[in-house]
Amino acid sequence: MRLFVAIEPTSDLRQALLALRCPLPNVRWLPPEQLHLTMAFLGEVAETQLDQLCRRLATVAAPRFDLAFDRTGCFPNPHNPRVLWVGCTHKPLLDQLARDIGQAALACGIRLEERPFHPHITVARVQRTATAVDINRFLEMPHAHKLPSLAVQEFVLYRSNLSKAGAVHTAVRRFFLSG
Ligand code: 2AM
Repeated sequence: MRLFVAIEPTSDLRQALLALRCPLPNVRWLPPEQLHLTMAFLGEVAETQLDQLCRRLATVAAPRFDLAFDRTGCFPNPHNPRVLWVGCTHKPLLDQLARDIGQAALACGIRLEERPFHPHITVARVQRTATAVDINRFLEMPHAHKLPSLAVQEFVLYRSNLSKAGAVHTAVRRFFLSG
């Protein structure tokens, strides 16, 4: 099964993220249920490893913290945007939590890709066939919108099922942070 660990937006943050949508040609805005902040992409994991993985993730001891989403951007770069995102300024507690989740996965033999952690919520994808896409309307709007901050109280192990209609994400287990 294809798994990843993420932080789920609260419904008020989700609503605010949906309000950032603006009409841009060749851009597909993600449905509300797909909005999340990926902490670790685990990829294909055998079903037999699930129990061990959950036990390890349950040992992650991290405090609760608040996240302020205060910027927008795109991957890989503004000349060739493929992913539009909303991000937060780096927070040590968020970075530490991502490292701890990575360690828990590693302890189960699941090695994460060694790309730097860029905390973001993907809000849209640019169609593969699109060439020149003007995303300035999106990039320039963020600071005008005050996004509600997110009180992070848990992280979630998700299963991702890929289908022609797009990915369907299902929460497998929630892990609560300590107070
Ligand atoms: P994204 O938000 O930047 O697209 C489920 O696929 C989640 O895992 C997505 O949110 C995606 O990030 C993230 N992810 C990270 N690395 C991935 C990879 N190699 N393949 C697919 N998804 C990945």
